[in-house]
Amino acid sequence: MEEMKKLVAREALKFVEDDMVVGLGTGSTTAHFIRLLGKLVMEEELEVYGLPTSYQARLLALESGIPVVGLDEVDAIDIAVDGADEVDPAMNLIKGRGAALTMEKIIDYRAGQFIVLVDESKLVERLGQKMPVPIEVIPAAWRAIAEEIEVFNATAELRMGVHKDGPVVTDNGNFILDARFEHIEDPLDLEMELNNIPGVVENGIFADIADVVLVGTPEGVKRMER
Ligand code: 5RP
Repeated sequence: MEEMKKLVAREALKFVEDDMVVGLGTGSTTAHFIRLLGKLVMEEELEVYGLPTSYQARLLALESGIPVVGLDEVDAIDIAVDGADEVDPAMNLIKGRGAALTMEKIIDYRAGQFIVLVDESKLVERLGQKMPVPIEVIPAAWRAIAEEIEVFNATAELRMGVHKDGPVVTDNGNFILDARFEHIEDPLDLEMELNNIPGVVENGIFADIADVVLVGTPEGVKRMER
């Protein structure tokens, strides 16, 4: 599995050019990409700026020697490279296992080219098949939203910390609900509907924004493209 992640991370380096602003995703697959990008920047003396989607990505970028910038310091984002939890045949995604979905969407959505790195275990016929949809919510509203989500034939659970007592708190100071839907018919529609609930900050459906998906398989990297 780690080998497949490294393989796609290496392949993604081919999209990087001198003088680019590169959105840096969160997770174990993009962690490989960030480390490799750091090496490339040093070896080739490239002028590349990393725009992190989380504290994880920021720390790793700094450790890897990549100059880091904020969204309010750049005119445009050339590419964003990020992982995903599920990818359907139309390249719609579920993201947010790492609770970084809001900043990921803010950056991935605005990138000139959004490149997704996954191994083949993430490919599904229909979104929601294996993973819940993470929803970042304002803490005071978590219970009300968890109940309101039931109208979508879904059940939502407050995500609890593993090495922390109590709920997971995101980089933005919010909570995460993990919502399991019986059937996601129209990902784009559900993405919009969920964001219309007052108190929802963002949700982990990324419909219609991926440009390229690099899929790591034992036979090598397969490419899905728009
Ligand atoms: C974090 C994410 C990650 O990109 C997603 O969970 C994939 O992570 P990994 O590459 O570790 O499987 O959305 O919020």
